[in-house]
Amino acid sequence: MSNQPLVGIVMGSDSDWPVLRACAETLKDFGVAYEARILSAHRTPDAALAYASTARQRGLKVLIGAAGGAAHLAGVLAAKTELPVLAVPMPSKHLQGLDSLLSMVQMPAGIPVATFAIGEAGAANAALFAVAMLALGDAGLAEKLDDFRARQSARVLAKTLPDLP
Ligand code: RP5
Repeated sequence: MSNQPLVGIVMGSDSDWPVLRACAETLKDFGVAYEARILSAHRTPDAALAYASTARQRGLKVLIGAAGGAAHLAGVLAAKTELPVLAVPMPSKHLQGLDSLLSMVQMPAGIPVATFAIGEAGAANAALFAVAMLALGDAGLAEKLDDFRARQSARVLAKTLPDLP
């Protein structure tokens, strides 16, 4: 794995990390270098804006923004970079992440973010989507993605169901 991070994972709080691990682990499995940061659109706004506005010149290709509640982090990152921004809604205490999902998915026209499923599935899929984008210019990575899908299919097809008593 090259040391140059290609994917920037940004989460609004360290409380998001147990869910975001699925994203980091997936990228690591594919050998895609990433960096992970805790930056909040409301608690550390200047640092979040500075991170996004310098991301491209620092060699990053994709940003993944994860937040919960009034989850404006991904949109704020997208406002300050032309890089693609993938948004992962975090499960929240009172509304189970529906608030996060709607905050992210309802971006007004002009500054897009691509929003994934709430929770671990979204975290893993954002990583897989980042891999698919990077694989467009990396034949080795494209082959790894093909292998991943083939192994996943084989696992599902090998499953059996128990007989009824
Ligand atoms: C958001 O608020 C974070 O992304 C997190 O999902 C949520 C709660 O943060 P903590 O109060 O646990 O730090 O900004």
